[in-house]
Amino acid sequence: MFQFTKECLIGVEHIDAEHRALFAMINEAMELLKEDNGTTLFVEKNLIGALKRYAEEHFAHEEAYMEQIGDLELPRQRKEHQAFTEYVNNYDMGELSEEGAAQRLNDLLLYLAKWLYRHILCSDMMIGHNRKEKGGELVFTKEYYTGIELVDAQHARLFEIINEADKLIKAELLHDKYDEIVHILNVLKDYTVTHFTDEEAYMERIGYEGLSAQKVAHMSFVDMLNQVNLDNVDDNQQEYLEELVVYLKNWLIVHILKVDKRIPVK
Ligand SMILES: [Fe+2]
Ligand SMILES: [Fe+2]
Ligand SMILES: [Fe+2]
Repeated sequence: MFQFTKECLIGVEHIDAEHRALFAMINEAMELLKEDNGTTLFVEKNLIGALKRYAEEHFAHEEAYMEQIGDLELPRQRKEHQAFTEYVNNYDMGELSEEGAAQRLNDLLLYLAKWLYRHILCSDMMIGHNRKEKGGELVFTKEYYTGIELVDAQHARLFEIINEADKLIKAELLHDKYDEIVHILNVLKDYTVTHFTDEEAYMERIGYEGLSAQKVAHMSFVDMLNQVNLDNVDDNQQEYLEELVVYLKNWLIVHILKVDKRIPVK
Protein backbone atom coordinates (compact mmCIF):
# COMPACT_ATOMS: atom_id res chain seq x y z
CA MET A 1 0.00 0.00 0.00
CA PHE A 2 2.84 2.42 0.81
CA GLN A 3 5.14 2.05 -2.08
CA PHE A 4 8.64 3.35 -1.97
CA THR A 5 8.62 4.88 -5.45
CA LYS A 6 11.26 7.09 -7.04
CA GLU A 7 9.43 10.12 -5.66
CA CYS A 8 10.67 9.09 -2.21
CA LEU A 9 14.35 9.31 -3.16
CA ILE A 10 16.00 12.29 -1.56
CA GLY A 11 19.29 11.76 -3.39
CA VAL A 12 21.57 10.90 -0.46
CA GLU A 13 22.40 7.25 -0.92
CA HIS A 14 22.73 6.01 2.65
CA ILE A 15 19.59 7.86 3.78
CA ASP A 16 17.58 6.53 0.84
CA ALA A 17 18.72 2.99 1.61
CA GLU A 18 17.59 3.33 5.23
CA HIS A 19 14.21 4.77 4.21
CA ARG A 20 13.72 1.84 1.86
CA ALA A 21 14.57 -0.59 4.65
CA LEU A 22 12.09 1.08 7.03
CA PHE A 23 9.33 0.72 4.44
CA ALA A 24 10.24 -2.91 3.90
CA MET A 25 10.08 -3.63 7.64
CA ILE A 26 6.65 -2.03 7.99
CA ASN A 27 5.31 -3.85 4.93
CA GLU A 28 6.70 -7.17 6.12
CA ALA A 29 5.06 -6.77 9.53
CA MET A 30 1.73 -5.87 7.93
CA GLU A 31 1.89 -8.88 5.65
CA LEU A 32 2.63 -11.19 8.57
CA LEU A 33 -0.31 -9.85 10.54
CA LYS A 34 -2.63 -10.93 7.75
CA GLU A 35 -1.75 -14.56 8.39
CA ASP A 36 -3.93 -16.03 11.08
CA ASN A 37 -1.67 -18.51 12.78
CA GLY A 38 -0.61 -16.70 15.91
CA THR A 39 1.82 -14.29 14.28
CA THR A 40 0.66 -11.33 16.38
CA LEU A 41 2.94 -12.05 19.28
CA PHE A 42 5.88 -12.60 16.95
CA VAL A 43 5.27 -9.28 15.22
CA GLU A 44 4.91 -7.49 18.52
CA LYS A 45 7.90 -9.06 20.25
CA ASN A 46 10.32 -9.04 17.37
CA LEU A 47 9.36 -6.77 14.51
CA ILE A 48 8.10 -3.74 16.42
CA GLY A 49 11.20 -3.69 18.61
CA ALA A 50 13.48 -4.04 15.58
CA LEU A 51 11.61 -1.30 13.77
CA LYS A 52 11.94 1.01 16.76
CA ARG A 53 15.68 0.44 17.02
CA TYR A 54 16.22 0.83 13.30
CA ALA A 55 14.22 4.08 13.21
CA GLU A 56 16.22 5.50 16.10
CA GLU A 57 19.50 4.64 14.41
CA HIS A 58 18.29 6.08 11.15
CA PHE A 59 17.22 9.37 12.75
CA ALA A 60 20.64 9.66 14.39
CA HIS A 61 22.36 9.11 11.02
CA GLU A 62 20.13 11.62 9.30
CA GLU A 63 20.64 14.25 11.98
CA ALA A 64 24.40 13.72 11.91
CA TYR A 65 24.38 14.22 8.14
CA MET A 66 22.31 17.41 8.46
CA GLU A 67 24.65 18.70 11.14
CA GLN A 68 27.63 17.98 8.94
CA ILE A 69 26.25 19.95 5.97
CA GLY A 70 24.91 22.76 8.18
CA ASP A 71 21.28 22.21 7.23
CA LEU A 72 19.05 24.97 8.66
CA GLU A 73 16.09 22.65 9.19
CA LEU A 74 17.87 20.41 11.70
CA PRO A 75 15.98 21.68 14.80
CA ARG A 76 12.61 21.11 13.12
CA GLN A 77 13.65 17.65 11.93
CA ARG A 78 14.80 16.73 15.44
CA LYS A 79 11.37 17.59 16.80
CA GLU A 80 9.61 15.54 14.14
CA HIS A 81 11.84 12.54 14.77
CA GLN A 82 11.23 12.84 18.49
CA ALA A 83 7.47 12.78 17.94
CA PHE A 84 7.78 9.52 16.02
CA THR A 85 9.94 7.91 18.71
CA GLU A 86 7.57 9.01 21.48
CA TYR A 87 4.59 7.63 19.62
CA VAL A 88 6.17 4.22 19.28
CA ASN A 89 7.42 4.23 22.88
CA ASN A 90 4.06 5.17 24.35
CA TYR A 91 2.22 2.55 22.40
CA ASP A 92 0.73 -0.04 24.70
CA MET A 93 -1.08 -3.20 23.66
CA GLY A 94 -2.76 -3.69 27.01
CA GLU A 95 -4.73 -6.86 27.69
CA LEU A 96 -6.23 -7.64 24.34
CA SER A 97 -7.41 -10.80 22.67
CA GLU A 98 -5.32 -12.11 19.79
CA GLU A 99 -7.71 -10.51 17.36
CA GLY A 100 -7.82 -7.17 19.19
CA ALA A 101 -4.06 -7.12 19.46
CA ALA A 102 -3.62 -7.80 15.76
CA GLN A 103 -5.95 -4.91 14.98
CA ARG A 104 -4.03 -2.55 17.29
CA LEU A 105 -0.74 -3.58 15.77
CA ASN A 106 -2.08 -3.07 12.31
CA ASP A 107 -3.29 0.42 13.27
CA LEU A 108 0.10 1.24 14.71
CA LEU A 109 1.90 0.10 11.57
CA LEU A 110 -0.48 2.04 9.38
CA TYR A 111 0.13 5.18 11.41
CA LEU A 112 3.91 4.72 11.21
CA ALA A 113 3.81 4.09 7.46
CA LYS A 114 1.74 7.21 6.83
CA TRP A 115 3.95 9.27 9.09
CA LEU A 116 7.10 8.08 7.38
CA TYR A 117 5.73 8.58 3.89
CA ARG A 118 4.77 12.14 4.59
CA HIS A 119 7.94 12.92 6.51
CA ILE A 120 10.18 11.68 3.70
CA LEU A 121 8.24 13.48 0.99
CA CYS A 122 7.91 16.76 2.84
CA SER A 123 10.79 17.19 5.26
CA ASP A 124 13.56 14.82 4.21
CA MET A 125 13.16 15.84 0.58
CA MET A 126 14.47 19.28 1.55
CA ILE A 127 17.65 18.00 3.20
CA GLY A 128 20.60 19.78 1.65
CA HIS A 129 18.37 22.46 0.11
CA ASN A 130 17.52 24.50 3.17
CA ARG A 131 19.91 27.30 2.37
CA LYS A 132 19.41 30.98 2.94
CA GLU A 133 19.24 32.16 -0.64
CA LYS A 134 21.04 35.30 -1.59
CA GLY A 135 18.03 37.41 -2.43
CA GLY A 136 17.93 36.29 -6.01
CA GLU A 137 14.84 36.23 -8.17
CA LEU A 138 13.51 32.88 -9.33
CA VAL A 139 14.16 32.56 -13.04
CA PHE A 140 12.27 29.92 -14.96
CA THR A 141 15.15 28.51 -17.02
CA LYS A 142 15.31 25.30 -19.08
CA GLU A 143 16.51 23.22 -16.14
CA TYR A 144 12.96 23.43 -14.73
CA TYR A 145 11.20 22.22 -17.89
CA THR A 146 9.14 19.07 -17.53
CA GLY A 147 8.12 19.16 -21.18
CA ILE A 148 4.44 19.12 -20.24
CA GLU A 149 3.13 22.38 -21.62
CA LEU A 150 0.45 23.17 -19.06
CA VAL A 151 2.65 22.18 -16.12
CA ASP A 152 5.56 24.31 -17.33
CA ALA A 153 3.32 27.32 -17.88
CA GLN A 154 1.88 26.95 -14.40
CA HIS A 155 5.30 26.54 -12.78
CA ALA A 156 6.45 29.71 -14.55
CA ARG A 157 3.43 31.55 -13.16
CA LEU A 158 4.17 30.23 -9.65
CA PHE A 159 7.71 31.60 -9.92
CA GLU A 160 6.26 34.99 -10.89
CA ILE A 161 3.89 35.09 -7.95
CA ILE A 162 6.61 34.14 -5.47
CA ASN A 163 8.94 36.77 -6.94
CA GLU A 164 6.20 39.34 -6.53
CA ALA A 165 5.68 38.32 -2.90
CA ASP A 166 9.44 38.47 -2.34
CA LYS A 167 9.65 41.99 -3.77
CA LEU A 168 6.77 43.20 -1.61
CA ILE A 169 8.25 41.71 1.53
CA LYS A 170 11.60 43.36 0.89
CA ALA A 171 10.10 46.71 -0.13
CA GLU A 172 10.50 49.58 2.28
CA LEU A 173 8.27 52.63 2.52
CA LEU A 174 5.13 51.05 1.19
CA HIS A 175 2.26 52.21 3.36
CA ASP A 176 -0.21 49.44 2.51
CA LYS A 177 2.46 46.74 2.32
CA TYR A 178 0.80 44.48 4.86
CA ASP A 179 -2.51 44.25 2.95
CA GLU A 180 -0.69 43.65 -0.29
CA ILE A 181 1.32 40.84 1.23
CA VAL A 182 -1.80 39.17 2.57
CA HIS A 183 -3.34 39.52 -0.88
CA ILE A 184 -0.40 38.06 -2.77
CA LEU A 185 -0.13 35.12 -0.37
CA ASN A 186 -3.79 34.36 -1.05
CA VAL A 187 -3.17 34.55 -4.78
CA LEU A 188 -0.30 32.12 -4.33
CA LYS A 189 -2.44 29.70 -2.35
CA ASP A 190 -5.27 29.72 -4.89
CA TYR A 191 -2.96 29.30 -7.83
CA THR A 192 -1.03 26.53 -6.11
CA VAL A 193 -4.24 24.58 -5.54
CA THR A 194 -5.24 25.05 -9.19
CA HIS A 195 -1.83 23.89 -10.34
CA PHE A 196 -1.76 20.80 -8.11
CA THR A 197 -5.27 19.84 -9.20
CA ASP A 198 -4.33 20.10 -12.89
CA GLU A 199 -1.02 18.31 -12.43
CA GLU A 200 -2.67 15.46 -10.52
CA ALA A 201 -5.39 15.17 -13.19
CA TYR A 202 -2.67 14.80 -15.82
CA MET A 203 -0.86 12.10 -13.81
CA GLU A 204 -4.14 10.28 -13.27
CA ARG A 205 -4.88 10.39 -16.98
CA ILE A 206 -1.59 8.80 -17.92
CA GLY A 207 -1.80 6.24 -15.10
CA TYR A 208 1.37 7.45 -13.40
CA GLU A 209 2.68 5.33 -10.51
CA GLY A 210 4.10 8.35 -8.67
CA LEU A 211 0.68 9.96 -8.22
CA SER A 212 0.07 8.99 -4.60
CA ALA A 213 3.47 10.28 -3.50
CA GLN A 214 2.86 13.51 -5.41
CA LYS A 215 -0.52 13.92 -3.71
CA VAL A 216 1.07 13.61 -0.26
CA ALA A 217 3.74 16.19 -1.14
CA HIS A 218 1.16 18.59 -2.58
CA MET A 219 -1.10 18.25 0.42
CA SER A 220 1.68 19.09 2.83
CA PHE A 221 2.61 22.22 0.88
CA VAL A 222 -1.00 23.43 0.89
CA ASP A 223 -1.22 22.66 4.63
CA MET A 224 1.84 24.79 5.15
CA LEU A 225 0.33 27.68 3.17
CA ASN A 226 -2.86 27.37 5.20
CA GLN A 227 -0.91 27.67 8.41
CA VAL A 228 0.59 31.01 7.46
CA ASN A 229 -0.87 33.47 9.92
CA LEU A 230 0.45 36.97 9.95
CA ASP A 231 -1.54 37.98 13.03
CA ASN A 232 0.56 35.87 15.33
CA VAL A 233 3.93 37.17 14.30
CA ASP A 234 3.73 40.87 15.16
CA ASP A 235 7.10 41.09 16.86
CA ASN A 236 9.33 39.95 14.10
CA GLN A 237 6.98 39.83 11.20
CA GLN A 238 9.62 40.95 8.73
CA GLU A 239 11.94 38.13 9.68
CA TYR A 240 9.09 35.62 9.59
CA LEU A 241 8.06 36.71 6.10
CA GLU A 242 11.59 36.65 4.77
CA GLU A 243 12.10 33.13 6.07
CA LEU A 244 8.75 32.07 4.67
CA VAL A 245 9.54 33.24 1.16
CA VAL A 246 12.94 31.48 1.26
CA TYR A 247 11.17 28.29 2.28
CA LEU A 248 8.57 28.64 -0.50
CA LYS A 249 11.28 29.15 -3.11
CA ASN A 250 13.34 26.20 -1.90
CA TRP A 251 10.34 23.92 -1.68
CA LEU A 252 9.15 24.72 -5.18
CA ILE A 253 12.60 24.37 -6.72
CA VAL A 254 13.24 21.03 -5.03
CA HIS A 255 9.77 19.72 -5.87
CA ILE A 256 10.04 20.61 -9.55
CA LEU A 257 13.60 19.33 -9.98
CA LYS A 258 13.30 16.14 -7.97
CA VAL A 259 9.66 15.15 -8.29
CA ASP A 260 7.81 16.90 -11.12
CA LYS A 261 10.57 16.33 -13.65
CA ARG A 262 10.01 12.59 -13.29
CA ILE A 263 6.48 12.86 -14.68
CA PRO A 264 6.55 11.37 -18.18
CA VAL A 265 5.40 13.38 -21.19
CA LYS A 266 2.60 11.54 -22.92
FE1 LIG B 1 13.88 12.91 8.76
FE1 LIG C 1 4.17 21.02 -10.06
FE1 LIG D 1 4.00 18.16 -8.23
